[in-house]
Parts: sequence; structure tokens; C-alpha cells
Amino acid sequence: MKYRSSKTMLFTLACVMLSACGSAQNNTAKKTALPALKDVFNNDFLIGTALNARQIEGKDPGAAALVPQQFNAATPENIMKAEVIHPAWDQYNFELADKLVAYGKKNNIQINAHTLIWHSQLPGFVRSMKDADSVKQYFTNHIKTLAGRYDGKVLSWDVVNEALNEDGTMRKSIFLDKLGNNFVVEAFRLAAEAAPHTELYYNDYNIEQPKKRAGTVTLVKKIQAAGVRIDGIGIQGHWHLGKIPFNDIEASINEFAALGVKVMFTELDIEVLPRDFSGADVNQRMENNATLNPYVKGLPDSVQQQLADDYGKLFALFLKYKDKIGRVTFWGVNDGQSWLNGWPVRGRTNYPLLFDRAFQPKPAFFRVVGLKKDQ
Ligand code: G3I
Repeated sequence: MKYRSSKTMLFTLACVMLSACGSAQNNTAKKTALPALKDVFNNDFLIGTALNARQIEGKDPGAAALVPQQFNAATPENIMKAEVIHPAWDQYNFELADKLVAYGKKNNIQINAHTLIWHSQLPGFVRSMKDADSVKQYFTNHIKTLAGRYDGKVLSWDVVNEALNEDGTMRKSIFLDKLGNNFVVEAFRLAAEAAPHTELYYNDYNIEQPKKRAGTVTLVKKIQAAGVRIDGIGIQGHWHLGKIPFNDIEASINEFAALGVKVMFTELDIEVLPRDFSGADVNQRMENNATLNPYVKGLPDSVQQQLADDYGKLFALFLKYKDKIGRVTFWGVNDGQSWLNGWPVRGRTNYPLLFDRAFQPKPAFFRVVGLKKDQ
């Protein structure tokens, strides 16, 4: 392989000893130099991963070795969601989020905090609120406390997550119901006051699709028209093998960037198993049956190649628009840790990421890295 000389140096510095990742295949102490995604795309955009609680606590040795080598950005998959970090009216669990911040500082990994206002994963005390005043008070306290505490310690916040329906209208939620249509603007206003040094994003899935994209543009324009700061839009990127909406993604990058905000791909994965709908609504489920879990014993070569093709085309598109894209984050470190093994059907064997269950790079990894070859 021939790389530009500066890249060659970075690649060399970033060599990964694969045997350190605990692969059974590598127990023979075979050492292989592996390029680092964060170095390969160093001049293009940040490369992130979602981290689960075990990984943040340092209890996953494979991830502990791989993550700092490969990634320069991270998003907590669950531990900064309201039900975990703010379980009761006057009780906050900061411990894991503080650990994540310290981990990021130690390893030069930028943290995107996820997420302040989301209709899902709310603590019981919020779900049972009946009057608007209580919701308003929760909303204000929650945003001020968290955005304030982590200002200057995290790079960015997903201030509002998944506020839109597929047709671009506002999703029904306790916030819409009790606080009205302006709650997104208010969330950004409070976050901007509490966190002047933190980038503030709107994050959602399927917003590359035309109607939801138009709804996103309207929402962002409304925030801007109110004189409130918004710095970026996160396109989650939960897509399906062979069905990546490349044209819609390209149009979205252009339309969102035209609003004067950064575009982020925040939860990237490519599902390889059958599913009869798109998106990432955690409440949507499918009945289990054997045909829905065809690759328990391994991924056939043809599917592995298609995954590499899809990831290759996607990253080629990202590179074309690197001046508009701030970050690309994968939703999980390795295939075995992906939420897609449990959703929308429990107990499946999915293969949506660049690293396999033994933290080994897949053909898709090399396809993505190869895009920078000879550039
Ligand atoms: O931690 C508890 C554990 O104590 C309990 O025993 C167990 C029993 O079910 O549940 C555990 O919590 C689970 C949590 O993941 C941690 O594993 C929740 O049930 C489960 O619902 C939760 O799923 C997460 C989901 O969001 C809902 O919060 C997924 O891991 C996470 O990947 C997913 O991420 C979302 C993004 O935040 C927003 N965009 C869509 C994306 C995918 O759904």
C-alpha cells in the first residue's frame, strides 16, 4: 500500500497491535500494523464511536485498547440520557459522565454529550407529570444543570433528539404537549445560556428523507429566527445494506450546510439483517422468527463485500463534502456490542460496524481506509 508520506508517518505512529485486542485468532502473538481511522481522516472530520457503560468504566479490555487507537470522538450510548443521569427530581448521577469526560481528556477524545431533551428514556417522575409547570421546571433544571456542568468539558451536546415525525411535523411528546411548539427553541436558548463554550446540535434519524429533511430545515430556521444559537445538525445514519439513500444524504448535506451549521453523522451503522421499515424508533418492534436471523454462524462473503461497498461509497460521499462535515460517529465499537443485535428483534446476530466481535477490522474497514490511498 502506498500512502502520502505524511499519512505514512501517521499510520506508523498509529500502529495497532491486534493481538492486544484479545482476538482468539491472534493468540499466536501475530502483530499487524493497522491504520487508525482518526489519522486517516485527520484532515477531514472527527471519527467517533458510541461507548456503553462497561466501556466507560474501563471494564471492556478490547475496547480499552482499540478506542483510543482508532477514534478521536465519542458519544455515550446511554449514560447521559435523562433516565440514567437524572433519575429523580433532585437526584443526578454524574459519576459515569464525569468518568467519560476524564477518559476523553486523557485520550484526546472529544465528547459529544447525548442527549438533553428526548421524548424517550425519560425517568418515571417525568413520565408521570400532569401539569405544564412541573414539566417546564424539570426541562429548565435539567438543561441548566447538565449543560452548565459539562460546559467547556464536552465539545458538543445533542440538545434535542428526535423531535420530528416522518412527515416533518412535530412528534407528539410530553414536551410538545405541555410546553407547546416552541419547546425546541427554548431548549436551545437554555442550553446556549448555560453552555456558551459548547456546540449545540439538533439530532434525528431519517432526516435525510425529503419530508423530514424539510421539517428539520423549518425547525432550524425557527431557532435561528428567534436569535438562538444552533451549531449543527446530526444525521443519525441508521441505514440498511443495499438501501443507503445516497442522493438524499447528498441533498441533506447541502441543504443543512446552507443554513450555516455543521453537518454531523452521529450514529452510523449499516444493518445487514431483514427489516420491513427504516429509521431508529426504539419503540418499533418486529416479531421474531428464524428467517430474520440468517447469519448466526457468520456473515457470507457476498454480504461482507456488499457492506464494504456501501461503507466505501458512503465515506467517498463524506469526503466529497468534508468541508461541511464535522464528525462521523459509529454507533458502537464492535458488531457484538451494537444495539442492532437487540432491535427491532431481540437476540439477533448483526454485523453493522467496521470491527467484528473480536475487535478485528472487517473488509469494510479496509475499504474505507483505502479511499485515502494515493490521495
Ligand atoms: O441498563 C439496563 C439494565 O440495567 C437492565 O437490566 C436492562 C434490561 O432490559 O436494560 C438496560 O438498559 C438498556 C440500555 O439500552 C442499556 O443497555 C435499555 O433496556 C435499552 O432500551 C437501551 O437501549 C438503547 C436505546 O437507545 C434506548 O435508550 C440502546 O442501547 C441505544 O443504542 C439506543 O440509542 C439510540 C440513540 O440514543 C438515539 N437514536 C436511536 C438510537 C438507537 O435506538
